[in-house]
Amino acid sequence: MYNFIFQNPTKLIFGKGMISRLESEIPSGKRVMITFGGGSVKKNGVYRQVKDALKGFYTVEFWGIEPNPSIETLRKAVKLGKTEKIDFLLAVGGGSVIDGTKLISAGLLYDGDPWEIVRSGKASGTVPLATVLTLPATGSEMNPGAVISRYETNEKFSFGADYPVFSILDPETTFSLPKNQVAYGIADTFVHVMEQYLTVPGVSRTMDHWAEGILETLIDIAPKIERNQNDYNMMAEFMLSATLALNGFIAMGGVPQDWSTHMIGHELTALHGLSHGHTLAIVLPGTMNILRESKGDKILQYGQRVWKITGGSREERIDQAIHMTEQFFRSLGLTTRLGEEGIGEKTIVEIERRFNERGVAFGENKEVTGTVARKILTDRL
Ligand code: NZQ
Ligand code: ZN
Repeated sequence: MYNFIFQNPTKLIFGKGMISRLESEIPSGKRVMITFGGGSVKKNGVYRQVKDALKGFYTVEFWGIEPNPSIETLRKAVKLGKTEKIDFLLAVGGGSVIDGTKLISAGLLYDGDPWEIVRSGKASGTVPLATVLTLPATGSEMNPGAVISRYETNEKFSFGADYPVFSILDPETTFSLPKNQVAYGIADTFVHVMEQYLTVPGVSRTMDHWAEGILETLIDIAPKIERNQNDYNMMAEFMLSATLALNGFIAMGGVPQDWSTHMIGHELTALHGLSHGHTLAIVLPGTMNILRESKGDKILQYGQRVWKITGGSREERIDQAIHMTEQFFRSLGLTTRLGEEGIGEKTIVEIERRFNERGVAFGENKEVTGTVARKILTDRL
């Protein structure tokens, strides 16, 4: 185990009916901007619950933060927030609304164009922000990260803001999710764990078992959720798994982290608009296959503990673990090949070009350069 510092200040408020607690959690006298996506919260009753709880506050609503939130939209929100002298933000929605609101929270204290904050990689100051989460997937409700797109240039980058002060997670809000969003959310959660787990064995037994526990939970609950999405306990497990997968808990012990699947996935979203979780389901099996040498020992541990693969040679067991991973994504109803989405060589060349131009190299060994990203994507054609 390596040295590490862990601190997660987000207060997690979890369960049925908990949205009503907004009233007591937001300091009185705050001028609150409530941010939303495209309107799902009006259909499932979440909007009403939020408004009822905030009767005693001065509120301004900002609607229209889109999936893969854009700088173009968020600039308007920052402008409105400055005019209204907003000093508290409440994001109500999925990861996109929360991420977008993280940029607003930084933009309100910044004089220049908020895109500069994204490109600098780190916000220098933020207005307090809280969330009501309606889509388990990103972990954004309990981490400081945010991913913002720039539509005019087909770019997508992440940056660091602050942790939400508190997040309210009521599993009942997820009953209305479309089936594809549930699948993307499960895939995203699964891959968040893999990014922090599938590197080398032997750094931390505790973290390994915690990560494997989340993976096994997802494999267990996915078919049950598919059968009945209104099963409160299953959706609660899904919601808690998604938060635990990316709130820093499984990264204690200073475990090595990969994130190359995410970085490649972001490019697929930026160039083709594919949903985030979907891109990961396509890319991850390729990352595992192309990096099978450096990751081999951990893939064997993953295969044995998560998929109970014990027979066959080393290479056969690695193949089997990759196969089971891809099959899991397919069992969620997702396609796992670029060709199935009409994406081909041209995109692969563009992603290689972008990585080379930026001079980046991802992964725990910094081995995923533009050239290796091309190999990973070519493996997924
Ligand atoms: O916009 P509305 O109308 O609310 O509809 C949304 C949206 O169309 C809908 N939805 C959300 N909750 C619902 C619902 N529909 C019915 N019932 C509900 N309860 O779902 C659609 C997708 O929402 P979105 O917020 O885009 O999904 P997700 O939570 O998967 O967020 C994806 C974004 O998060 C980023 C991704 O890159 C992507 O931009 N990520 C953020 C991370 C972070 N901050 O730590 C890490 C992740 O790896 C990821 O990169
Ligand atoms: Zn993700």
